[in-house]
Amino acid sequence: MKKLYRCLRPLLFKVPPETAHNMMISVLSRVPVPCGKAFDAPNLKVTLWERNFPNPIGVAAGFDKNADIIGPCLKFGFGFTETGTVTPRPQDGNPKPRIFRDPGTRSAINRMGFPSAGLSQFKTNLTRFIDKKPRPLGIVGVNIGMNKNQTEPAKDYTALIRNLGPLADFLVINISSPNTPGLRNLQKKEHLAPLLDAVMTERTKSCRTSAPPMLVKLSPDIHEDEQEDIAITILNSGIDGLILTNTTLDRPTYLPENFAKEQGGLSGEPVKDKSTETIRRFYALTKRKLPIIGVGGVASGQDAFEKIKAGASLIELYTSMVYEGPWIANKINKELSALLEKNGYNSVMEAVGADNAG
Ligand code: FNR
Repeated sequence: MKKLYRCLRPLLFKVPPETAHNMMISVLSRVPVPCGKAFDAPNLKVTLWERNFPNPIGVAAGFDKNADIIGPCLKFGFGFTETGTVTPRPQDGNPKPRIFRDPGTRSAINRMGFPSAGLSQFKTNLTRFIDKKPRPLGIVGVNIGMNKNQTEPAKDYTALIRNLGPLADFLVINISSPNTPGLRNLQKKEHLAPLLDAVMTERTKSCRTSAPPMLVKLSPDIHEDEQEDIAITILNSGIDGLILTNTTLDRPTYLPENFAKEQGGLSGEPVKDKSTETIRRFYALTKRKLPIIGVGGVASGQDAFEKIKAGASLIELYTSMVYEGPWIANKINKELSALLEKNGYNSVMEAVGADNAG
């Protein structure tokens, strides 16, 4: 199968990125693809929020927006997958083209703008997966966002929590995608506190018996001066964890000019260090109390290990999978397991924050 992907890769890179992605979703959601054996090691198992993650490497949001390929993602060896971003009503997102790749810098720019089949289709897909017997191993998160034309964001987030909260292993409030006008403003203290109050109240109301952990996904571009206020607001709100980070609006000078001029969020290798530093800051600012899922430019066990030592308990990736295929999960897990052992850690959790003096 790995050989097949290597043969198909040149073809997939000839068609526009979004076409290649949709072709892959279409195949994986219809044809049972032989995925091979997932790499498994005792030192990779993580228990967080009373959930057992078979390993710490997950699929980042945006890859499986409509929960079409949960089973295949988990079978490829990912310990969890974050589906979405889903919006309440279906919407098309921004005009195409809206994803751009630069293989030379192992990066991508996207301005998708939350294309979503909407809550109803998403719920059908998620329910179909949950009802499978036996349910495949692995944890399924749901990343939620607001429709573009929504002027009262809390209404969309609470509607999604009401409908999807009871089905999700964890929920993510996405307020950091750069492609929905006004969304990142929700990270500002004055908007954040009432929004988090509304979502936590809704969770209590609608998920009484099995309240999923509630996480917030933040941008790597938050100014240092604002980070402390945000951390305090999040700690006071009762939120269970952070996802750090989304894509960046930065354009490092080494990016090719034609690629760098595209509007949208930059992901992959160029966001790696900025994301790791954001993890380091928030781990310290939240007094090591909030579990963090680290995401941004992870392509190897070493990249994952660095984010873990900065304060992440779990890791996600998107862009490196575009370049290396879904087997990257097994590769990273194998490398990470060996690195933990070599450095004297018996588990991922023992290494969390090891390089963070706080
Ligand atoms: C994303 N990302 C993203 N994040 C999110 O919270 N909701 C979303 O819908 C999307 N959509 C999306 C589409 C595309 C094409 C890309 C490349 C990325 C951001 C993603 O989850 C992740 O935070 C960043 O891409 C950084 O990780 P990588 O890609 O460097 O591993």
